[in-house]
Amino acid sequence: MKFFLDSAQVDEIEYGLKMWDIDGITTNPRHVQVSGKPFLSVVKEIGALVAGTDKTVSVEVNPHLENHALMVAEGEKLASISENFVIKLPATEAGFKAVELLKKKGVRSNLTLVFSAAQALHAMRMGAFFVSPFIGWKEANGEETFNFIAEITAIRDNFAFQTEIIVAAVRNARQIVDAAVIGADIVTAGAAVYKDAFRHPFTDEGLKKFISFWDQTTYE
Ligand code: E4P
Repeated sequence: MKFFLDSAQVDEIEYGLKMWDIDGITTNPRHVQVSGKPFLSVVKEIGALVAGTDKTVSVEVNPHLENHALMVAEGEKLASISENFVIKLPATEAGFKAVELLKKKGVRSNLTLVFSAAQALHAMRMGAFFVSPFIGWKEANGEETFNFIAEITAIRDNFAFQTEIIVAAVRNARQIVDAAVIGADIVTAGAAVYKDAFRHPFTDEGLKKFISFWDQTTYE
């Protein structure tokens, strides 16, 4: 399973690449705003960090765009900046059409803001490279997400779609493990979520105990 970092902060991404060998990066308008940098500057910086690798950087089109032709034009412009860029499009009628048109032009897309299995299925039919169901937002709304991801994964397998499923808006280790058990391809989460997921209080406690025993023993 691949781990993507959900961030537009260059220092955080450098850390994730170096320490966790993250497989890709996903950005969105919120992450770009948090970076404090202009959109184009920061996505170019992120693209440079993974240039020459097969790690993808998902970059979102202007969310004001409602017309598929405008989305395609923006997507082509962004894709020309870096071979690593995958164009994020919203799961709207125009976004689905833009996926199809961009695919014909050789541009990879990531259907974002996916909240139903039907949206995910249509994204796959239209040729999305990635589809991003947002589980954190659904759970915050009181909706279940295990079956949601299981259905999308079953649909992908039933029809041998090539689309990779990015389980997005992941908030904790349980959700990462659930996505892996179901057989989703990728999770994307923030750096803090990975930091928490890779540690356990018993490991820290156990290490303290072992240090104490070590210190009470001679080496030779
Ligand atoms: C995924 O690609 C999105 O960027 C992300 O997971 C959205 O969720 P968040 O910004 O609420 O974490």
